[in-house]
Amino acid sequence: MMEAAPAHITTGRHRSGELTDPSSPEGFTLRLSEQEKATLVVGQNATETHGVDRLGVRPLRMVDGPHGVRRLLDPSQGFLAAAHPATCFPTAAALGATWNVRLLKEIGHALGREAAAQDVDILLGPGANLKRTPIGGRNFEYFSEDPLLSSSLSAGWILGVQAEGVGASLKHFAANNTEQRRYGIDVLVDVRALRELYLASFERAIIDARPATVMAAYNKLNGIHCTENSWLLRDVLRNEWGYTGAVISDWGAAFDGVASLEGGTDLAMPGPLNARAIEEAVERGDISHERLDAAAGRVLALGGHLPARNATLDPDFAAHHALARRAAAEGTVLLKNDTGLLPLSGKETVAVIGAFASEPRYQGGGSSQVNPTRLENLLDSMRQALGDQHVTYAPGYDRTLVDSPSTLHLEAVVTAESADVAIVVIGLPEAFESEGTDRVHMELPAAHNHLVTAVVAANPNTVVVLMNGSPVEMPWRDRVPSIVEAYLGGQAGGSALADVLVGAAEPGGRLAESFPERYSDHPVSRLPAGPAQTEYWESIYVGYRYFDSAGLDVAFPFGHGLSYTAFDWSPIGPGASKFDGTAETPVTVTLRLTNVGARRGSEVVQVYVRDVQSSVFRPRQELAAFAKVELAPGEHEDVTLCLERRAFSFWDTERAAWVLEPGEFEILVGSSSREVKFSHVVTAQGQPEASARDAAPAPYLNPGVGKTFTRPDFEALYGSPLPPNEVSSPFNMDTALRDMRHTAGGGLVFRLMRNAVVRTLGLTKDDPLSAIADDVVGQINFRMMPTLTEGTITPKRATRILRWLNWVNRQSGWPFRHTTRQ
Ligand code: BGC
Repeated sequence: MMEAAPAHITTGRHRSGELTDPSSPEGFTLRLSEQEKATLVVGQNATETHGVDRLGVRPLRMVDGPHGVRRLLDPSQGFLAAAHPATCFPTAAALGATWNVRLLKEIGHALGREAAAQDVDILLGPGANLKRTPIGGRNFEYFSEDPLLSSSLSAGWILGVQAEGVGASLKHFAANNTEQRRYGIDVLVDVRALRELYLASFERAIIDARPATVMAAYNKLNGIHCTENSWLLRDVLRNEWGYTGAVISDWGAAFDGVASLEGGTDLAMPGPLNARAIEEAVERGDISHERLDAAAGRVLALGGHLPARNATLDPDFAAHHALARRAAAEGTVLLKNDTGLLPLSGKETVAVIGAFASEPRYQGGGSSQVNPTRLENLLDSMRQALGDQHVTYAPGYDRTLVDSPSTLHLEAVVTAESADVAIVVIGLPEAFESEGTDRVHMELPAAHNHLVTAVVAANPNTVVVLMNGSPVEMPWRDRVPSIVEAYLGGQAGGSALADVLVGAAEPGGRLAESFPERYSDHPVSRLPAGPAQTEYWESIYVGYRYFDSAGLDVAFPFGHGLSYTAFDWSPIGPGASKFDGTAETPVTVTLRLTNVGARRGSEVVQVYVRDVQSSVFRPRQELAAFAKVELAPGEHEDVTLCLERRAFSFWDTERAAWVLEPGEFEILVGSSSREVKFSHVVTAQGQPEASARDAAPAPYLNPGVGKTFTRPDFEALYGSPLPPNEVSSPFNMDTALRDMRHTAGGGLVFRLMRNAVVRTLGLTKDDPLSAIADDVVGQINFRMMPTLTEGTITPKRATRILRWLNWVNRQSGWPFRHTTRQ
């Protein structure tokens, strides 16, 4: 296939090595040798591209990440080396709960300025993957289970960062929802779920905000690695969505440099193939000259369109800290406040309980980890807000352990008893949430649950504050009057939380994800995962799309969050009852929102659409538009929301297009997916187009309690036979070490890698993180060896070691077959 020309670079005559940039004022033409072009499309090291000295083209620096700038002090010390101090903003989980695109843009500006000041050209974020399950290890890096919310917030982030002259890298494209076997897992997802959810979570951000780069994910998508997936990268991203920036690989994801370049990845970071190998591939004809020109052109364009670095820029860290504080309060969700315990009056004595109150959980582990410029905790902030004499403290648990000594509990109960109010801060320890590992359940550590039960029995005026990156089960939910979800709130999370508790700020958050009662209620909890594939049997029934369709009670629904004030919602006018389904924004919803309470506060107006008469299965309702509105007491605002055509459409697999069917749609306006304030029905006009559709398998037509999605049902939806979901010997480049560690050769390689990781991390046996070392190492496959060993194992050597391992296994008589659920 001929490469579609990028907007600002068109390739000149290929063989002469010319690249022409007609959009530049000079219309300059760069004459590049094949060798120079080849160097442009592979990374130079873990954070930089190659420059072209002769032409004054400098290398580009790319660093993580979504919540703050992580520029390593000395990159030669490896991925985990210490980083320059930078503002640690709230994690995406918390930012998702703000539902505030403007705020995301503001944070983007701040991130962009800090990145520019640190000589960074591309900031590796935001993460726009949809949250498929509550147990995904990287959920804290992602915004939402809803694609409209996720892509809108991503767009805000990107626009802010890029306005400061720093490029963004929207990641991880696409369907990167699990850490299990993350480097080689094959995600099988049907086209409708892909289009309506997993791709849609990126689409608006790509089209509206034009990120400088898009990062292709580690996983395979429907049989092909994302970095090599020309359907994903060329047909959809470039040809359909008109993307003109550069596609870069996730770190190490472009193992087969030839296949990834041909598939549509322009820049392989940080390799592992070197420029010489690319050149040879071009000489052999494995990579076309056109393709190399296009890729090199886009990498060049990245540099050409970025301003000169501004190392003299002096970011205002104090202002950024204040912004992080405001954002953390805006992402804090008041889940429950039955007796109006919150906000505190300021006169009470308060027992602050929980080790997270003095040593907070505020960010997640892995590549997004930031070295904060300062770090606040709730305990100090409460003492500042209320005065030392009003605040007592007991740690209640050991912050790294699942079970804790009972003496800590006893001390906590005594402390709680003697105060007016107990604030119990609990959550998930570091080892529960990190890049490289998923949770296997949604439970809090047992010690945290026991602590809550004991404290609330001793003092009914108990507020539970949660610090976690994604939903947890709350078995004590009915017994506790007030619950606050603080998420992982970044470096200013402590003061932000104190602001919310004492009422200096309002809890501005609304859940961007559903909180099921228990993990077993979640459809994915009943589905197999791996070893070769993760099959998305639930299709479009993700998050509230499932719970609302199934009519299943949840602990807290999508969109939920209480306020310290109260609002009156009144529709304005009946609105048209019919609409033209061909218009771009065919329906508008107008309402008057009035703050009828005594405090300033914000509300998120959420509009959902239900397709009343559809010829295909659809979720009960889908988010169609939203607006965050802030009002002083007594103030009102007339809010108008424009519903786009897409809000009514589904992806028609037969026509391979978005289709808005004539017929009735219910428009539901409310403050969560379950709290509807008013609704009305509108009719899309037009003639239904004749179309013969196969009836979908039963669970999709009417999902509900007691019904499960099955493999044959999914296979029918998927439209082609599913490959066997098993790992068998001989192993291949995608086989995860966890699936070969019980073989003679695999066990040896696993142990060697584990020792190397433990050494690099400096983990002792007692370090709680050593618990996840097995898991993290188990995800590794041979594709990743060159990147993870920073080149010590070359791609050739990785291939050879794998061959040797298979040989050893054969000698020891291993016919191996493995079909686990985990
Ligand atoms: C992560 C990316 C990150 C990259 C560079 C990868 O392992 O998946 O999110 O941007 O490393 O650090």
